[in-house]
Amino acid sequence: MPSKKRIAVLTSGGDCPGLNAVIRAVTKKAIFEHGMEVIGVEDGYEGLIYNKFHKLEGLQVSGILTLGGTILGTSNTANPYRQAVKRGKEIEFQDVSKTAIANLKKMKIDCLICIGGDGTLSTANKLSRDGVPVVGIPKTIDNDIRHTEMTFGFSTAVEIVTEGIDRLHTTAQSHHRVMIMEVMGRRAGWIALYSGVAGGGDIILIPEIPYSMNWAVQKVKERNQSGKRFSIVVVAEGAIPKGGQMVVRKIVKESTDPVRLGGISFVLAAQIEKLTGIDARAVVMGHLQRGGSPNSFDRVLTTQLGTRAVDLIVKKEFGFMIGVKGNDFVNVPLDKVDQGPRLVPLNHPLIRSAKSIGTSFGDS
Ligand code: F6P
Repeated sequence: MPSKKRIAVLTSGGDCPGLNAVIRAVTKKAIFEHGMEVIGVEDGYEGLIYNKFHKLEGLQVSGILTLGGTILGTSNTANPYRQAVKRGKEIEFQDVSKTAIANLKKMKIDCLICIGGDGTLSTANKLSRDGVPVVGIPKTIDNDIRHTEMTFGFSTAVEIVTEGIDRLHTTAQSHHRVMIMEVMGRRAGWIALYSGVAGGGDIILIPEIPYSMNWAVQKVKERNQSGKRFSIVVVAEGAIPKGGQMVVRKIVKESTDPVRLGGISFVLAAQIEKLTGIDARAVVMGHLQRGGSPNSFDRVLTTQLGTRAVDLIVKKEFGFMIGVKGNDFVNVPLDKVDQGPRLVPLNHPLIRSAKSIGTSFGDS
């Protein structure tokens, strides 16, 4: 009798609403429909490198559809092809991919499902080239993965930020202030754009459109003169002033993508106060955007992505990420995904709509 197919699943990179919902969908379908064995890899690629595996049963994934975070744990520094190892005070990077692949073989894993963002999928692509049967599932609140119109977690993050902007309106209106909401998005401004429009932001600043302080200030002044004595600014953490730089908060040396941004809202608040004389306050949404339960849209999307990943395994179609296209799913070769972030196109219809109702993007 042929032995049971044994698949492994890992979640890697920043956490994101919906990770557990994908784990649940993969595990339930693999076990109930196909009689497979499912192995959870702990802490993303760290588990592959340091042999951290445990079996997942139906019972363990029951009741986690709505649970935030990931029951498997994650790491946004582990990378089998560039693993940081401490040598005294220094950090050295080593290629430990052979160990990781050998660990998968020892565990008799037939296929690995990698759930993560661009960094995770780039590593998945390398593993695939090195002969590991891999299926990728795109995850990130930033929504910036190529060849998928949507990543899970994005919709929930936009909803959380929108609620935050709604609440900022109260103080903005009562105190006649400029309230600045800083959201995640290092290179791509999807969260700022969607939540900014949903929350009725007056100025939306995204990394794709370098802003000028003159335009931002003019908008605030115009609103004041017309009797609207408050303004709401929504800014992506990676927004850049014309001819200027991003605001870097921290460098995480061990990470493949070491730059951590944050703090642009405070810089903007100080500049707006100085240039307009109007009181300004900054709020950083931060990791609240990644925490907690996925919304209904993300629960549906993750269930579809997880079950579809098992379909690919059954059909032996490896080396693909499952992308969203219109109302359907497409298999995208991992090679095509590994080509930088998906930015907001400058002619995006939502930018045009927002501009047509007077929203400023700091460029005019
Ligand atoms: O890519 C997801 C993301 O949430 C970015 O938007 C953000 O810049 C980064 O991760 C924050 O990373 P960390 O959790 O390491 O601070």
